[in-house]
Amino acid sequence: MTHEAEPTVPNTGRMFDYWLGGKHHYPVDIAAAKAFEVVFQDFPRVFRVLRDFIGRASRYIHEQGVEQFLVLGSGVPTQGNVHEVVPGARVLYTDIDPSNVELGQRILAGVPHTGYTHCDATDLTTLDMQVVKRVLGPIRRLGIIMIGVEAFIDDERLRATCQKLYDFAPSGSYLAFDCDSPKAKDHPELVKMMGPAFHMRTAEQLAAALGPWRLTEDGVQPVAVWRHRGTPVDVPPYMNGGVALKP
Ligand SMILES: C[S@@+](CC[C@H](N)C(=O)[O-])C[C@H]1O[C@@H](n2cnc3c(N)ncnc32)[C@H](O)[C@@H]1O
Repeated sequence: MTHEAEPTVPNTGRMFDYWLGGKHHYPVDIAAAKAFEVVFQDFPRVFRVLRDFIGRASRYIHEQGVEQFLVLGSGVPTQGNVHEVVPGARVLYTDIDPSNVELGQRILAGVPHTGYTHCDATDLTTLDMQVVKRVLGPIRRLGIIMIGVEAFIDDERLRATCQKLYDFAPSGSYLAFDCDSPKAKDHPELVKMMGPAFHMRTAEQLAAALGPWRLTEDGVQPVAVWRHRGTPVDVPPYMNGGVALKP
C-alpha cells in the first residue's frame, strides 16, 4: 500500500500483517519480512498461531465479563486483532511507533468503540488519559493485551512494567502476555538478526516477571496450546504465553 508518509524503517507489527496476509504494510516491511523468511520460512504459520492466541486470550477475558481492552504494542489492528474477536467491547490500541499510530487511526476511522493512540508500554505516563476515557469510558475492569512486545523489553524493565500495569488496572482486570522462548535459539541466524535487544524467556522466567499478577489455572504454555480445545497447529514452541488476573 502507499501513503504520503510512507515509513522508511520496517516495523515488526506491519511485518506480521504481511505474514498474516493483510494489506497494511509497506515495501520496507516486505523486504525485511522476506529477509527473515530466508532464515526461517515458517514465520507465516508461527504468527498465525500467535494471532489466534490473541483471539483466544481476548475472548477468554471477555467471557470473564471484561468489556474494556487496552492493547499495548498493537501493530496493525486487523487480521483477527482484538476488536474483531470481541465484538461490542471497547478497544483502545496503542503502539510506540508513530507510523503505526497513524496507520491504525486511518484503519479504525469510523469503527465504533475503538481508537488508536501513542503509548510506550513501559511508561504509562505516555498514555493520554483523555483518549482512554473517550474510547473506553469510565474504567471498570480492563483487559490488557501485551503480546509480541515483551521480547523487546529487558528483564528489569519488564518486571517494572508488569508492576506499573498492576498498579494502573482496577481489581478484576486481566493481563494477556507472551514472550519468545529460548527454543528460538534452534535458529541461531534468526536470533542474530534480532540483535542483542531481543530477549527470550522460559515459561518460568516469564511467570516470574509478572510480579503480583496471579496466573490463571492454565499457567504459562506454548501459545499454540493455551486453552486450545481442538487439535493445536503443530508449530515448535517458540512462544509461551498466558493470562493473569489482578484479584
Ligand atoms: C512484534 S509486533 C506485535 C504486534 C501485535 N501485538 C501482534 O502480536 O501481532 C511488536 C509491536 O510492538 C511495538 N513496540 C515495541 N516496543 C514497544 C514499547 N515499548 N511500547 C509500545 N509498543 C512497542 C512495535 O512498534 C510493534 O508494533
